[in-house]
Amino acid sequence: MSKVDLTSAIPNNVGLKDDKRLQRALEKWQPGYIDWWKSMGPEGFQGDDVFLRTAISVDREGWANFGYVKMPEYRWGIFLNEAIPDRTVGFGDHYGEPAFQTVPGEYRNLLRRLIVTQADTEPASVEQQRDLGATAPSLYDARNLFQVNVEEGRHLWAMVYLLHTYFGRDGRDEAEDLLRRRSGDPDSPRILGAFNEPIADWLSFFMFTTFTDRDGKFQLLALAESGFDPLSRTCRFMLTEEAHHMFVGETGIGRILKRTVELAREHGPENVRENGGIDFATLQKYLNFWFTVSVDLYGGEQSSNAADFFGSGLKGRYQEARRYEDHVALDGIYQMPVLSDGRMTTEEVPLRNAMNEVLRDDYVEDCGNVVKRWNKLLEKEGSDERLVLPSRRFHRAIGLYSKHDFDPEGNPVSSDEWESRKREWLPSEEDQAFIKTLMYPVHEVGRIANWIAPPVKGIKDKPFEFEYVRRA
Ligand SMILES: [Fe+2]
Ligand SMILES: [Fe+2]
Repeated sequence: MSKVDLTSAIPNNVGLKDDKRLQRALEKWQPGYIDWWKSMGPEGFQGDDVFLRTAISVDREGWANFGYVKMPEYRWGIFLNEAIPDRTVGFGDHYGEPAFQTVPGEYRNLLRRLIVTQADTEPASVEQQRDLGATAPSLYDARNLFQVNVEEGRHLWAMVYLLHTYFGRDGRDEAEDLLRRRSGDPDSPRILGAFNEPIADWLSFFMFTTFTDRDGKFQLLALAESGFDPLSRTCRFMLTEEAHHMFVGETGIGRILKRTVELAREHGPENVRENGGIDFATLQKYLNFWFTVSVDLYGGEQSSNAADFFGSGLKGRYQEARRYEDHVALDGIYQMPVLSDGRMTTEEVPLRNAMNEVLRDDYVEDCGNVVKRWNKLLEKEGSDERLVLPSRRFHRAIGLYSKHDFDPEGNPVSSDEWESRKREWLPSEEDQAFIKTLMYPVHEVGRIANWIAPPVKGIKDKPFEFEYVRRA
């Protein structure tokens, strides 16, 4: 394991200065990255001092490094977790063989696609969130947004390092393309659907960081199992950052719930909106939307690609070693709920072909626990309102369930019923316009917008009344 080198242009613990070719290639990519950051990163805050954490090593203390930074000067680095000695491939056709330290020729395209798909989500979310600073409900929230943004930028660096190091010319071309595609651009969109959806307001941002960053967590957990060791080590470090993103989302929604309960108590539940708060019905609709577009990110329920990723040892299951006994999964069967003649029944699917669904199961369960925690909070605040996680069959654009309409409980409904009721279930144009009216900037120290409660505590033992962003 190389030592952490914080003095080079690209901070790293991968021994970059001993590999001049690679170092030059990455230093050539760097100016394009900075240009991209300045034009597509947080709009209007590039010259401000932001109280951010920067990774300086891969151990726990490496994260204790907080200070004011202008975002374009953030030290984006390349960090891999320590190698596990004598690590072996944990699943699939190569189960028990030494982990791959170079790219196995026969899996080169498969692996490149896996890395590029993950990489593409990182700059995409920065682009989706770039206008949010202008309506930040507090400086504390603005700071959290920017922390998430710079770390997504670092995730891009992590993936570009793999492309440059292991894929030669093709890898460099892919790295260029990652700076060329744009979220929501009709001609050159990002690869995955949810990463082309606009994040136009802070309610969407908190739902996105709860549900879509949580997809990121599960994808990284599956890639952390990879038999391709450099990918595994990269993803294990990325997971430490992902945890903060989900914290921002979950506590953000929690603080909205708290404020909504206060407004409902003061003015009556039906008058939350006219008193500048977000009513429960609208919260539920945004939850329904962002959960379901995130559920789509796992791909089709039955997928030969998923089988290939597993068989080749490139992408595993969440906690493969701890939770499973059969790591080859050639004889296993998955009971897949399907719709047949208008009724739900189950179909037996070879387990390897169901690997997307296996990972989705873990994701859905984790999302269910988030909703439980929100409901606990509502209970504690003395409210009878509860949020509900919709069925994974509801509002799907990809896979088996996209071929039919389902209500949020997962019951099949006619397309007429869907049309007449979708405004009850998903944010309507009116809802979105209303949420927009609540979004106004609160950029004064210690103040907060009316629709959200302040956090219980600040960042790094600082109070909420701290100048998390020093406006230039
Ligand atoms: Fe990320
Ligand atoms: Fe993230």
